[in-house]
Amino acid sequence: MTAIRPGSPPGPALATGGFRHHDVLDLDDFALDEIELVFHTADGMKDVLGRDIKKAPALRGKSVVTLFYEASTRTRMSFELAGKALSADVLNLTASASSVTKGESLVDTVKTIEAMGVDVIVIRHSSSGAPYLAARVVEPAVINAGDGWHAHPTQALLDMYTIRERFGSLDGLKIAIVGDILHSRVARSNVWGLAKVGAAVTLCGPPTLLPSQWGGVTDTNGHQDGLPPPRITFDLEDALDGADVVMALRLQQERQEGGLLPSLGEYIARYQITPERLGWAKPGALLMHPGPVNEGVELSSDVVRGVQSVIDRQVASGLAVRMALLYLIAGGPQ
Ligand code: CP
Repeated sequence: MTAIRPGSPPGPALATGGFRHHDVLDLDDFALDEIELVFHTADGMKDVLGRDIKKAPALRGKSVVTLFYEASTRTRMSFELAGKALSADVLNLTASASSVTKGESLVDTVKTIEAMGVDVIVIRHSSSGAPYLAARVVEPAVINAGDGWHAHPTQALLDMYTIRERFGSLDGLKIAIVGDILHSRVARSNVWGLAKVGAAVTLCGPPTLLPSQWGGVTDTNGHQDGLPPPRITFDLEDALDGADVVMALRLQQERQEGGLLPSLGEYIARYQITPERLGWAKPGALLMHPGPVNEGVELSSDVVRGVQSVIDRQVASGLAVRMALLYLIAGGPQ
């Protein structure tokens, strides 16, 4: 469970008050007002990014380390750009090029980073729960940049922000999430976040790539949160019928044990999003994907670059949302 501290008083340009998190580990313990504060703050960051000089002094004197045990393009680059746009010092540590290769543990690695006076540690790790362990043993704020199959809260926030940009509000929207749900930390965090903002989520994929049941939305302590569980279907037409948003997920072949799919061809035949199948959703429905896309697998090439695709907008939103999170965590008086 994320440690929650009292909110900080307003900063000089944007308020940080109302944001009660010391760490960002998942969205299960985010209140609706905190999600809205992230969106509101990201609106301000978009203004900064629209200037000729895309820089604000909000995090001058602060330092951010990105500590990645897994590959990444979008998440890592956008955290680096976000920190730099706010004038923080940003250092990137790739586990494969660090003392981790000599056997140094995660705990010793983050304690070493802490000893250098760093303010924020952004962690991606292949093991679910690794950022939670880090947050327990160090004082700097920890942001989960994706842990195993478990959570990817900043991806879910940028996905929701992209939907809000188009529709104004997420309340009452129908969101179909399609593909490899079982291995997807993106799906798990989106289910939490989308339920909090009042969207109706349907999960769709082959039976072997869906959890057998979601069993209601529960937090990391197994507590129900009074939020509706997602609807689950194996039928793509049923999932897309009337959807405002179609979010396809990457087929995570690196995380799959053998035998979860009869064949790639069968997956494509039943679940690939094509222009014709996108037509089952509402006219003008958004097509989303967290990336990286296996083009020709979960999405046909023509929908990737089609008018309904907002995949590039998701990447752009990621920068504003991650600036907002860094600001809310490290920008106010600590
Ligand atoms: N969506 C996402 O997490 O992409 P990267 O793996 O490139 O960071």
